[in-house]
Order: sequence, then structure tokens, then C-alpha cells
Amino acid sequence: MLVNGTPYRSVWLDGSIVKLIDQRLLPHQFAILDCPTYQETADAIRSMAVRGAGAIGVAAGFAIAQAALKAPEATLQQEVGRAATLTRATRPTARDLFYAVDQIARTIHHAHTPAEARRAAVETAHRLADENAQAGEAIGVAGEPLVPPHARVLTHCNAGWLAFADWGSALAPIYRAHRLGKQPLVYATETRPRGQGAKLTAWELGQEGVAYTLIADTAAGWLFQHGELDCVIVGADRIAANGDTANKIGTYPLAVLAQRHGVPFYVAAPRSTFDDATPSGEAIPIEQRSEEELLWAVGRSESGITQRVRVSADSAHAKNPAFDVTPAALIRGFITDGGMIAPTQEAIAMLLHPTMARLP
Ligand code: MRU
Repeated sequence: MLVNGTPYRSVWLDGSIVKLIDQRLLPHQFAILDCPTYQETADAIRSMAVRGAGAIGVAAGFAIAQAALKAPEATLQQEVGRAATLTRATRPTARDLFYAVDQIARTIHHAHTPAEARRAAVETAHRLADENAQAGEAIGVAGEPLVPPHARVLTHCNAGWLAFADWGSALAPIYRAHRLGKQPLVYATETRPRGQGAKLTAWELGQEGVAYTLIADTAAGWLFQHGELDCVIVGADRIAANGDTANKIGTYPLAVLAQRHGVPFYVAAPRSTFDDATPSGEAIPIEQRSEEELLWAVGRSESGITQRVRVSADSAHAKNPAFDVTPAALIRGFITDGGMIAPTQEAIAMLLHPTMARLP
């Protein structure tokens, strides 16, 4: 996608350096963060310099490739093991992160020489990044017909290209509809406490010239009651085998509202987000983040200085679960890189294992 007219991916590998758009600084500053070691890449994931399920998967893959590139030959397998452990411990919910680490660690494990391991690791990490970008584009193709001309679409958090290598999940059908001249209007939730909607989705849509209106998270019910929404499209961090879906905290109440008001609620995600080893939503690990994110806010002052300010009583404490689970029953359909599928165990199994599912 374009940033001031120049095409970018959210994260990439340049030699042995992972480079990423530092999302902590957006929308006020556009800067590239260099991570020369896998430890620094893991730290960028933990601190949310790079965030979004797809993007942290791609970054995690590059972290393992970095470990393979930099490790001494004699201890390459052990160093890759250490990198995998460190990277897996950064954020627990997004399935794409574990998917990428597993794929690359397996490739390295099967290599016969250190040189082969390094080559395979880098190739696999680049392939996963490309597949992630292509999946976003395919989701756009599959989901665009759900966006009628002048559709008013509600989305939550940031499931756009910043959250992937490129294109995004929830925003991909919107980008495609926009390019086809359908003139969609996006209602973007602010997404407290970190404000991914206000800071990132708004910035992304602005860069692409898509019309959008920001709403407070608490204003969604008002929009549903006043008939101002044609559909809801959100992303996903992990989808269990039965279709229960973990996404940014605040997604579940939107799904309840959508059902109450008869508005279709779609989840957009690539195959790498589906986790058939997790039977249902109850088994999805939910990240609990620091209370600091609620008690304080970061923004730019009128004089242009980025500041952290206290937005709660000095005595306040907070609970800060980062994700919630929307039951499959509230989801109209999954928009995937393999096309639209029903939110059922059978449809998910068929998506992930098309040949096995056809066996008698
Ligand atoms: O900002 P994060 O990494 O905590 O949020 C994760 C997400 O990106 C969203 O939940 C999003 O909807 C998932 S789709 C990439």
C-alpha cells in the first residue's frame, strides 16, 4: 500500500536486518525501525512497534530467519530454538505468530547443513511474508461483493495493511470496493485503550483516500439503532476449530449488536489465522495487557509534542484484556483467502484440509 505515494510493506527483511513501520509513532510520525537482531525483533513485537495478527506473524518469521543467519554454525540449532522460545513468548493470542515460528523452525530442523538451514530459513520467511500479502489481496476479492455501492461498513481496531504484510483482512474488501469506484464509507471505532482505530485505521484509510468517520467505541449501538450500518467486517487473531473467533477487545459486543439489529457480521482472516488444534473459543489464550494502557494515553499536543498524559484518577487501577471471543453463532461468514465460508466446523476443516475433507 502507499504511504505518501510510495509503496510499503509493514515489515520486511533487508539482509539480516528486520525493518518495520514503527506503529507506536503513527499517525503523527512515519518512521522505520531497524531490528538488527532477533532479540530486537522480538522486542518490537512485544512493545507493539509492529502489531496486528498478520504482521506479527511475518515479523516472527523474520526473527527466526535472523537467528539462523547470525548464529555460529556449531550452535545454530540451539540458537534457533532459543529464538523460537523468545518469539513465542512475546504475544499469546494471534495464531499467525505461532504458525510462522513453527513453519520456519521445522524447515531449519530438517536442513542437513548450517548453510542449507540459513538459506531455507530466509526463503521460508520471505515466502510467508509474500503469502500473507497475497492472502490479504485474495480476501479483498472474496469480500468485495459483500460491500454494495455506497455501503456503510463498521470495522473495529486495525485489520488493514499495517496489521499484515500488505492489504489487510477486514479492510481488504473495502480497499477493493473503493478501487472499483463503489465509494464505501467506513465507520472506524476508536478502539480503546490503545486507539488502533483512531490512530492506525484512520491513518491507513486516509492514505488510500477511503472515506471514513471515527466513532467512540460506545457509539456503535447508536449507529445500529439509527440504521446507519449495512454490514460489519472485522479481522481475527485466532479462529478455533468450531469458528469461535478471538479479536480485539470490544468485537463481541459489536457482534451481539449486529445480531440484534439484523446487520450481517463478517470476520475476514487468512487460513494462517485458523487454528484447528484449538477446539473452541474457551481454549484460546487471551493476552492481558498492562493497566498503564488504560490509565494513560499518548497523543500529540497542540504545539506538536508527543506526550503521555494521565486520563484516569490517580487512585485508579484497571483490568485490560486485549481480546474477546465472538461465538461462531454470531458470525454470518468468514471471508478468507480460500473464498467465503460458513462459520462451521465442517467448512473450516474443508478450508484447512481440502483433500482430507473429501475422503469418505
Ligand atoms: O493491535 P493488536 O495487535 O493488539 O490487535 C490485533 C489485531 O490486529 C486486531 O485484533 C485485528 O482485528 C486482527 S486482524 C489483523
